Amino acid sequence: KKDTMILGIETSCDETAASIVKNGREILSNVVASQIESHKRFGGVVPEIASRHHVEQMTMVLEEAVNQADVTWEDIDAIAVTEGPGLVGALLVGVNAAKALAFAKNKPLIGVHHIAGHIYANRLENEFAFPLLALIVSGGHTELVIMKDHYDYELIGETRDDAAGEAYDKVARMLKLPYPGGPQIDRLSAEGKDTIDFPRAWLEEGSYDFSFSGLKSAVINTLHNAEQRRETLNPADVAASFQQSVIDVLTEKTYRAAQEYKVKQVIVAGGVAANKGLRQSLKNRFNHTDTELYIPPIHLCTDNAAMIAAAGTILYEKEKFKALDLNANPSLML
Ligand code: KG4
Ligand code: ZN
Repeated sequence: KKDTMILGIETSCDETAASIVKNGREILSNVVASQIESHKRFGGVVPEIASRHHVEQMTMVLEEAVNQADVTWEDIDAIAVTEGPGLVGALLVGVNAAKALAFAKNKPLIGVHHIAGHIYANRLENEFAFPLLALIVSGGHTELVIMKDHYDYELIGETRDDAAGEAYDKVARMLKLPYPGGPQIDRLSAEGKDTIDFPRAWLEEGSYDFSFSGLKSAVINTLHNAEQRRETLNPADVAASFQQSVIDVLTEKTYRAAQEYKVKQVIVAGGVAANKGLRQSLKNRFNHTDTELYIPPIHLCTDNAAMIAAAGTILYEKEKFKALDLNANPSLML
């Protein structure tokens, strides 16, 4: 059987990315142009600025991806692009680039769900073993998904309010840390201690849903009360205590779900999977169990296009192609 070579494109948020992946698992190139510096002074991603930067970067990023992979257009079997969810203006830049390329180079077009991409990032270094449980923790998502086969997703739990990454970013802002807040809190946590008893939202017995808005409010109240009493709180302790609350709930619910669904493998996806505390906590929890825990290296946890090409490879094999009228869908379902 001939090798499958997929070009992936990702522009759903603030990274312009293109990548070529061979047979769904081998990265030939993985180019990411980050816009973090442009959004930093606004304390978050500004959609209009994101779209403009994608337009400016797209051509260069695509050329880089093809050059670095050392392939010709002949070798590429299909173009896979993130069609949603994400910022609509940002998504449109990638979708339009993919459509133009599919038309000009006469290649099939594949639409990939951003979260399917985060899940398939795991497969770039470690083969899936079904049934598996995926913990998806990003700026927009907190989900537990069971997969019995490729591209077969059963949602068993999700956040009822803020996503885990969103909670990180909001708490970071309260602590006056720069955007994006997740990595900042992660770093600061290492210097502090879990001294403040923040709540953990377990919800109803047996629920795999999450809630982080109560925790966020508890952090606000704690900071506010300290200020009123003119007490000084160590920001590192606030960060460490907040982080421990998030990690405890994520780890415990993931562990319980893995037990109940008797999965062979647990994988972690999304930007928050880069969190050092979470990685360690999951490792400790699944140590000495029969369940294999796999967490991708950090550069594959955050947004990239190799993950889109990897997920797109499965759709290519299933011949699930899109017509050239493909549109961006900011609220696409997995
Ligand atoms: O997957 P991602 O790059 O973009 C989305 O699809 O949302 O995730 C971004 C999120 C942000 O909220 C960011 O603060 C968070 O992931 N994040 C982290 C860490 N690195 C990124 N959160 C906690 N600890 C980290 N080390
Ligand atoms: Zn993402």
